[in-house]
Amino acid sequence: MPTKKSWAEPWKIKMVEHLHMTTKEERIKAISAAGYNTFLLKSRDVYIDLLTDSGTNAMSDRQWAGLMLGDEAYAGSRNFYHLEKAIQDFYSYKYLVPTHQGRGAEHIFSQILIKEGDFVPGNMYFTTTRLHQELAGATFVDVIIDEAHDTSSTHPFKGNIDISKLQKLVDEVGADKIPYISIATTVNMAGGQPLSMANLKELRKWADKYKIPIAHDMTRVAENAWLIQEREEGYENIPIKDIVYEICSLTDHATMSAKKDPIVNIGGFLATNDEDVYRQAQNMVVVFEGLHTYGGMAGRDMEALAIGIEESVSDDHMQARVGQTHYLGQKLLDFGIPIIVPIGTHGVFLDAKKFLPHLEQDVFPAQTLAAEIYIESGVRTMERGIVSAGRNKATGEHYYPKLELVRITIPRRVYTQSHMDVTAEAIAVVYERRNSVKGLKFTYEPEYLRFFQARFEPIK
Ligand code: F0G
Repeated sequence: MPTKKSWAEPWKIKMVEHLHMTTKEERIKAISAAGYNTFLLKSRDVYIDLLTDSGTNAMSDRQWAGLMLGDEAYAGSRNFYHLEKAIQDFYSYKYLVPTHQGRGAEHIFSQILIKEGDFVPGNMYFTTTRLHQELAGATFVDVIIDEAHDTSSTHPFKGNIDISKLQKLVDEVGADKIPYISIATTVNMAGGQPLSMANLKELRKWADKYKIPIAHDMTRVAENAWLIQEREEGYENIPIKDIVYEICSLTDHATMSAKKDPIVNIGGFLATNDEDVYRQAQNMVVVFEGLHTYGGMAGRDMEALAIGIEESVSDDHMQARVGQTHYLGQKLLDFGIPIIVPIGTHGVFLDAKKFLPHLEQDVFPAQTLAAEIYIESGVRTMERGIVSAGRNKATGEHYYPKLELVRITIPRRVYTQSHMDVTAEAIAVVYERRNSVKGLKFTYEPEYLRFFQARFEPIK
């Protein structure tokens, strides 16, 4: 009798999309034309696209059917009311303001809450989130636990907030300089690491004491809930749906990139329990996104999102989603390849400092590694290191993040286990020849979110 029970996807395939295979010579040309930046590759030249799980998901037949129910009225679309009900029923928030995607919500939220000279503490930064906080006049302060910066620490909740770091900030600048605490459920830049319910409850108590609201980046909240179910005492038998609801109800406001957890290709929103913030957001959304009952989304997209939210909190879906990521991560570990442990949910993160220890951070090891993986196999991954971290706006110096990572991100319901095998084997080949890999230098560096459009050339 086999001792370990395999998991399988709780769906079957109804339609396929052909992939384009390339030769190594073609890929060398393609990555050079893309300035050694995987964001600048044409998707036609990519075989297995593991750049991101954002907007790259496969919708279900129910969601596709939902598209046909799109009510494209400029005002008061019925799909808005369906989406509003889904936000209330599954996420607990009272008020909804849709936006075209996550950063649209971050922009509006930051502008409403932040005053020049404020400080926003958070459990590690996310690129767009921190930029909007900075553009609104705030300084971001990282208050994640130290273990999050250590790729080999096996702490089960590396997304946790260190309350003593928060306390230190309040003691230094005063609670009135902190408009909100910015928490992300599963911390993307830390390798998809979760925070625990116990930590969130402790944070809630602390925040109440100082009357500081908690703003929740809930982009991958269901994935965090899955990890709580797996790792936190008392949650083993609680459905994901209930854990998601409990997490949300411990926070005051939320921004979401709906392109992740809820399995759609576009969309986002701001949600809140605060009527005053809601009124201001409704007013701002008409300036920057669209009327408050669509905020930049088509009616049909709001319908697909409402259905996707319900599908995303199912235990079966989540088991397969995370099961696939863990399958890939375990294969890489078996090859002896340095990755962040514990393995997260939306992707596996290669530790580029350990993979290419002969490269200084100034020559962009993770950027280099992502280009090498593409050349080897046509698999597209993403840099999450010094290039993503950008420059300190006051000094103009690079931020030197402790984590120098390549993210291998898994879209939801898109690739099979065999695609994961091919990916792991390709990375193992690059690992074999790692000593011959040289670094990169900038040939073009944009001012904002430079990782998206920067160009490089190999160092001779
Ligand atoms: N917050 C988190 C945690 C994210 O991962 C993202 C996007 C955003 C906010 C911004 O949302 O893209 O809809 O405007 N992450 C993508 C990624 C880009 O690849 O991880 P957006």
